Amino acid sequence: MHSAPSPIGRAGGGSTSVFILGIESSCDDTSAAVLHGDVMLSNVTASQAVHEAYGGVVPELASRAHQQNIVPVVDQALKRAGIEASQLSAIAFTRGPGLMGSLLVGVSFAKGLAASLGIPMIDVNHLQGHVLAHFVRQTDVEAHQPPFPFLCLLVSGGNSQIILVKSYKDMEIVGQTIDDAAGEAIDKCSKVMGLGYPGGPIIDKLARQGNPQAYQFSKPHIPGYDYSFSGLKTSFLYKLKEWIATDADFIEHHKADLAASLEHTVVDILMHKLRLAAKDLGIKHVAVAGGVSANTGLRQAFLDHARRYGWQVYIPPFSFTTDNAAMIAITGYFKYQDHDFCPMEAPAFSRVSI
Ligand code: KG4
Repeated sequence: MHSAPSPIGRAGGGSTSVFILGIESSCDDTSAAVLHGDVMLSNVTASQAVHEAYGGVVPELASRAHQQNIVPVVDQALKRAGIEASQLSAIAFTRGPGLMGSLLVGVSFAKGLAASLGIPMIDVNHLQGHVLAHFVRQTDVEAHQPPFPFLCLLVSGGNSQIILVKSYKDMEIVGQTIDDAAGEAIDKCSKVMGLGYPGGPIIDKLARQGNPQAYQFSKPHIPGYDYSFSGLKTSFLYKLKEWIATDADFIEHHKADLAASLEHTVVDILMHKLRLAAKDLGIKHVAVAGGVSANTGLRQAFLDHARRYGWQVYIPPFSFTTDNAAMIAITGYFKYQDHDFCPMEAPAFSRVSI
């Protein structure tokens, strides 16, 4: 790993008077953050436990919870940042992709606040936000930011993409899943095992006590840099059914080995295509982003690849792996410098590419 000055070459928070409020509400996290330049002053997130009982996010409940959370979360973000709303320069908000009902809460709130303060609004693509989270500076953490161009593996509950990041606003998808996302596959396998929701962190914890070589699951054979995780999910389900037929308590007896083998297979699939893309494109700066980047096995695989292949790797702090508003605010900060604002009538988009 190495440290480098900001590749964007912009002044840090101390030399600018730009304050950006970021708002994120694309799924089941209501988040607000304040940045002074590129320096994070606050990042407040309210998660929604209400979905646990359903084993997945229930869109209607998510938008209702966002409505309850948005005012206190923004209030806290301003308080922790130690600024008044009147000092804000602009409001950046997630415009998509995401759940429409959830997005609408953040978008409407951003519009109302921006109009009342008479400041510009900046629409942010949630996926770009995940990638650009690497450029948020925290005063107590040494800056470790990738230079352009770099590759970013974006892995979450909804996406698995290899992105060539040429600049903060020029990103190209070089590979992506043709069916399920990596996080979605892990969550579904965890559900089949009767574990809680979301499955990712539970599988991660269990995997630490298991043997990653205990079981083999099917891996996709598709051309190029694309991914596929639906076959793995089906293979996991069918093998489990076979084993349970001879031992009703199979899951209980082998859950750590099952989790470790599942995690190992997912990480193997992800790293194989990433390695290919990095080699073909001649890129050695490789970042990871999104909820699944919190996974211990995946983080370790990045460190191993740094040693074996001479990569410079960029692994986000845990607080930036899942959905957060700091990543929306930093994207907003870059767009602010280009005066790239959006009109008041800008609608939310449930589906939009990077
Ligand atoms: O980026 P994110 O918060 O939300 C979106 O999907 O946009 O990602 C959530 C995904 C879920 O599938 C969750 O199970 C997974 O990230 N996840 C993990 C871990 N923490 C969260 N997967 C594996 N290991 C983890 N430690």
